[in-house]
Amino acid sequence: MKIVVNGTEHQVEVDPQTPLLWVLRDVLGLTGTKFGCGIAACGACTVHLDGEAVPACGVAVGEVTGEVTTIEGLGNGVLTPLQEVWIGEQVAQCGYCQPGQIMAASALLRRTPDPTDDDIDEAMSGNLCRCGTYPRIRAAIHAAAARLRDA
Ligand code: FES
Ligand code: FES
Repeated sequence: MKIVVNGTEHQVEVDPQTPLLWVLRDVLGLTGTKFGCGIAACGACTVHLDGEAVPACGVAVGEVTGEVTTIEGLGNGVLTPLQEVWIGEQVAQCGYCQPGQIMAASALLRRTPDPTDDDIDEAMSGNLCRCGTYPRIRAAIHAAAARLRDA
């Protein structure tokens, strides 16, 4: 079957029931998308499907009709303003959850350019962080929103 990831069309020979996550990581080698729980409960595998944040472990590749974007394709080879702010705010600790957090945050900012704390908490509620970086995630999203507004 065909799948479009980060702007490139790929032909993949897999069972259509294979979770998108495994196709991204094991077939296409895009290991920036992380495996955490495998049951759509932690957010580590968050990618964009036509711009919306979805858990790649919870989507069968045969059901994918839109364009997939992973952390590798988020900025087309350059850091996005969100990622620059993320680094500036020193959000990451161990880093494992962070690609998923950034994908969820960028989807939020696309649909809600000036999010409140409640907007952020709701949008990010599916993304767990064992290192407890939540306050810095919230600060980074606010800072990125301000930068995008000023741009
Ligand atoms: S690995 Fe997909 S949500 Fe946890
Ligand atoms: S930074 Fe370690 S799990 Fe989130």
